[in-house]
Amino acid sequence: MPGFEVIGAEERAEVEDVFAAGGVLCRDGFAPLRHGRHKVREFEEAFASAMGVPHALAVTSGTAALRVAFAAAGIGPGDEVVTQCFTFVATVEAIVESGATPVCAEIDETLNLDPADLERRITPRTKAVVPVHMLGTPARLPEIEAVCRRHGLLLIEDAAWGCGGALAGRALGAWGDIGTFSFDFAKTMTTGEGGMVVCRDESMHKRAAAWHDHGHENNPALPRWEDTRAGSGFNFRMTELQGAVGLAQLRKLPAVVAAQRATRDRLAAAIRGCPGVELRPAPRGSEETADALVFAVPSREAALACRAALVERGLATKILPEAITWHFAGTWRHITPLAERHGGRLEQAFPGSRARLERAVSVPVLVRMPEGQPERLAEAVTEALVKPAAGVRT
Ligand SMILES: Cc1ncc(COP(=O)(O)O)c(C=O)c1O
Repeated sequence: MPGFEVIGAEERAEVEDVFAAGGVLCRDGFAPLRHGRHKVREFEEAFASAMGVPHALAVTSGTAALRVAFAAAGIGPGDEVVTQCFTFVATVEAIVESGATPVCAEIDETLNLDPADLERRITPRTKAVVPVHMLGTPARLPEIEAVCRRHGLLLIEDAAWGCGGALAGRALGAWGDIGTFSFDFAKTMTTGEGGMVVCRDESMHKRAAAWHDHGHENNPALPRWEDTRAGSGFNFRMTELQGAVGLAQLRKLPAVVAAQRATRDRLAAAIRGCPGVELRPAPRGSEETADALVFAVPSREAALACRAALVERGLATKILPEAITWHFAGTWRHITPLAERHGGRLEQAFPGSRARLERAVSVPVLVRMPEGQPERLAEAVTEALVKPAAGVRT
């Protein structure tokens, strides 16, 4: 979670460099004023190299990254896109914005897309699958990739939480035909708001770049006002200030993720073995970003009791169990195409996932762990599970 924790002199120096070089704040144009500074382009190149992919395109948010990815992939009306029912609303909103129909599938014990349920949800209209690496734990990408291959579907990873993580030595976001990232203020690296789209295919990248800039092809032979275009698009261009901050944050990403893992492991060690606690399993070969420590307890009441005991000790939970409504499709009646696609019965559509999520607890992980946190965590969990507080409202 905490790119914001390490913002400092390096980010400031990169931003000052933009002003020292003439203060051009947009990614393209104004060549005589910018003295060769292209922070967004530099950020894209550095990010692509860090993820081990040939192409990266910076955009204004993780939500925009998804929308641009769907446009570049040619996803639109008449198509269905399957994602997991445990994600942030943005994943489904971007599908709806593209004109396609969102379909959600159950999660498995990793709390990410269940490959078996994914396969059951595929129809002749399915065009793409969007696994999400929720809270920094990789989805089961090899199995999901195999399903996509069997059915000729595009794999688009929502790696909003996955930045800096990997599976089997390959960066999260770099497995799919396209990967999308978020740099909002709660992510492993941040530009305040911002996002990135990565891919291997050059023509996919060109379509994404054009679509995020009103269709501009940035034809080097022409001035911008006479630029060529193959279709319309929108404006999701990142600013130079965000690009500058992103460059500094990217350099810190390995250290942030290493520190988060160390924090998470110390927290996990404090409650491992506590009766009733089951730590969230990760697929073999996972290098998690460790944004949170997630564990299951025996019941919903026990999860709520854990939250109450944590809050009492000045600790917090993150998404689970209390803020699940923004992250569980079973509650999204307001997203009409999703509700209709699931027969108007969203509440009943994902019983297995609901049961898993209701008894899950997620504790946020920081780079700089507050003094005594593992001990307070262990105390809270033991109190909640071994001698449950009376009168916890469910
Ligand atoms: C899974 C997921 N996808 C997409 C997004 C959207 O990212 P942004 O906040 O940068 O628009 C988020 C944000 O938290 C997210 O959690």
